[in-house]
Amino acid sequence: MTASDRRRSAPEHPWRGIQLDVYERHMGDPGVGQLQRLREITGEQLAAYPFRAVGVLGVAGGNGLDLVDPETTDAVYGYDINPDYLHACETRYRDTLGDRLRLIEASVDRSVRIERVDLLVANLIVEYVGAEEFVAFAAANASSIGVLSCVVQRNDAAGFVSSTDHSSSFDALASVSSDIDPDALTSAMSGAGFTDLDRREYPLPNGKTLVRQDFRTTPGP
Ligand SMILES: C[S@@+](CC[C@H](N)C(=O)[O-])C[C@H]1O[C@@H](n2cnc3c(N)ncnc32)[C@H](O)[C@@H]1O
Repeated sequence: MTASDRRRSAPEHPWRGIQLDVYERHMGDPGVGQLQRLREITGEQLAAYPFRAVGVLGVAGGNGLDLVDPETTDAVYGYDINPDYLHACETRYRDTLGDRLRLIEASVDRSVRIERVDLLVANLIVEYVGAEEFVAFAAANASSIGVLSCVVQRNDAAGFVSSTDHSSSFDALASVSSDIDPDALTSAMSGAGFTDLDRREYPLPNGKTLVRQDFRTTPGP
């Protein structure tokens, strides 16, 4: 079997089967409130650390990219596994960000090498990459990352996927998603040479909590 035969016969990644408008209506549902909260958190992440180059893993349709100041930014790298999401992101932000916007279709794992960024944002993607793989990705790219700021969701009493009219569209994600324990992530990141900089919690209307964790690569001796 050739590599392209293997690609053709490989099951499609479930995130490629979810329409962006379905995803955004689900996340923007007033009972979920995650799209708006994630946009605000992205704004905080952008304001917290100085940067000329920023990367966003799992950029989807570019939630929060309207908060990037083109005057002070040289490059905005957006990575996502779904090419349709990247196309929508391009349509939304090419006019304001111009050539600074660089969108890359990629399945994030330890084999991926990113462009050098001062700030790497990774909001609600660690759950789908897996903690171990995400930490291996961070370790492999440590020299290209100034600050890594990620958000994971703590489900507390709620289910992994919040309940809306669109919930069933996300059923297939169960095969690639896992709960992330923020303390375990901090400890694994520390083992990979990243120092814990900050941690903040954002309660959601549906009983879940978004947990933001910021890390910096430990300077050498
Ligand atoms: C829950 S959404 C995050 C949305 C966005 N970060 C925000 O703040 O609104 C997860 C995104 O990660 C992408 N994704 C999931 N697994 C991925 C992987 N292994 N590699 C790259 N992108 C992935 C999905 O296509 C989707 O756009």
